Amino acid sequence: MKTILTGLRVNSDLHIGHYLGVLTHMANLANKHHEDYNINFFIPDLHSLISEVDGDMQQNIVRNIKYYLAAGLKPSKNIHFYRQSHVPAHSELCWILNCTASMGELGRMIQYKEKGEGKSSVNVGIFDYPVLMAADILLYSATYVPVGEDQFQHLELTRDIALRFNHKYGEIFTVPATTSEQIKFMGLDQAIRIRDLLNPEKKMSKSTPAENSKIMLTDKPERAAKKIMSATTDSVGKIQFNMWNQPGISNLLQIEALITNTPLQDVISTWAGETRYGDLKKKVAESVSEMLTIFQSKVAEISDDEVYELFKQGEAYANDVANSKLEEVQKAVGLR
Ligand code: TRP
Repeated sequence: MKTILTGLRVNSDLHIGHYLGVLTHMANLANKHHEDYNINFFIPDLHSLISEVDGDMQQNIVRNIKYYLAAGLKPSKNIHFYRQSHVPAHSELCWILNCTASMGELGRMIQYKEKGEGKSSVNVGIFDYPVLMAADILLYSATYVPVGEDQFQHLELTRDIALRFNHKYGEIFTVPATTSEQIKFMGLDQAIRIRDLLNPEKKMSKSTPAENSKIMLTDKPERAAKKIMSATTDSVGKIQFNMWNQPGISNLLQIEALITNTPLQDVISTWAGETRYGDLKKKVAESVSEMLTIFQSKVAEISDDEVYELFKQGEAYANDVANSKLEEVQKAVGLR
């Protein structure tokens, strides 16, 4: 059985872009494929140590799993939840892979360059981040690794490391699918980026200081509705979808389509010919506040114990799979 694997970081709070673009997408993917694939959802908590964590790491870990469940993910026997730091094989394999990766290729990683830009000192974890990520993936022989575009380069590096290792030591690792195969499998070609409410040319980001530019998953529904009402639009005066000329209005149409689970085309047709932006905002504000109300009450219904029980099962499974792959690697390189 093939494996689908993904990790969700715990450094910060999540916004509706994460909900609409990642959480519900992953939940649907898992519910669709759980009979034919192993599906691993893990928390890359060691990766989180490269930078500050907003809030409490333990709480964020539990919260992220609750978010998956509240977004509709149904636990079942082939779906596994685990924490990276509870499976020591990740760090162990990372070291071995470090000895096959080169400074040059890691130095070319865009994320490393961006994170290091203008800093006088950068921690080694930031530099080595992609090798630990390769270990996360290769230990479980994952074929499909749903991630955002910003992680594609790390996926390509994982493929390079796996191919190089296999070439030197024999067919040990499953090489993950190419980026274009990943995009096809996950339907990411239609991936949607929710825009910043005040500056809709940019994608919504938790690091934007302006509170009204983003809707966090912990926002009170009424507060979220107000943010939609104050979203930046334009002076064209027509409700139509055009990301170039009318990114604000287009963003609202997109949010409405995703939340109400309606094809974007249908939402566009519903509003075609309308001119009052206030009406559209009111409708989207209602949809967003209703979505948050339901989501937050679902999150509140899930106990921490439930999450820890999932970790207990998932980590037993993960340690089994990871340790047996690690042993193969140790034998191949001569450590056993
Ligand atoms: N680097 C990913 C991110 O920042 C998180 C991550 C760590 C990950 N290890 C992974 C994702 C392995 C997929 C597979 O979003």
